[in-house]
Amino acid sequence: MAKLDILIYPDPRLRQVAKPVDHVDDNVQQLVDNMFETMYRAPGIGLAATQVNVHKRIIVIDVSEDKSEPRVFINPEITEAIGEQTMPEGCLSVPSFYEEVVRADAITVNALDQNGEHFTLQAEGLLAVCIQHEIDHLNGKLFTDHLSKLKRNRIKKKLEKQQKANVL
Ligand code: NI
Repeated sequence: MAKLDILIYPDPRLRQVAKPVDHVDDNVQQLVDNMFETMYRAPGIGLAATQVNVHKRIIVIDVSEDKSEPRVFINPEITEAIGEQTMPEGCLSVPSFYEEVVRADAITVNALDQNGEHFTLQAEGLLAVCIQHEIDHLNGKLFTDHLSKLKRNRIKKKLEKQQKANVL
């Protein structure tokens, strides 16, 4: 397994819309393994392939406290979204910023697992938030897009400044 580099906002590659996966083959399985390694080491609770500059519709999530519930979603589709919840969100591509975002409270999602098998999952609370956040990534969207323009620009400027500093 290998740790992959995570793109940092406002990198334009985070805006690419990911393509569906045709076949869940060895390459996809290896990518999934590397995404888990990258997510756990960051540490984070979710990672979309877009964030490691692979523009395929693949997400890994583990919202457990002890890394005991790894979940893989390939070509995920939300088929039902009910209610509303507000939770502070962060993102490995937007390091050290946390802001409240309004999302659906409960969702039903269809996807393929790491073996290419179809499954349907009903999720609520943190898991539902995380799935919605990661699917946004596959569509080139970040949690900052849900914020006011003022907040978004403030985050963007600070991260641009930090990245310039890192280059020197
Ligand atoms: Ni994120």
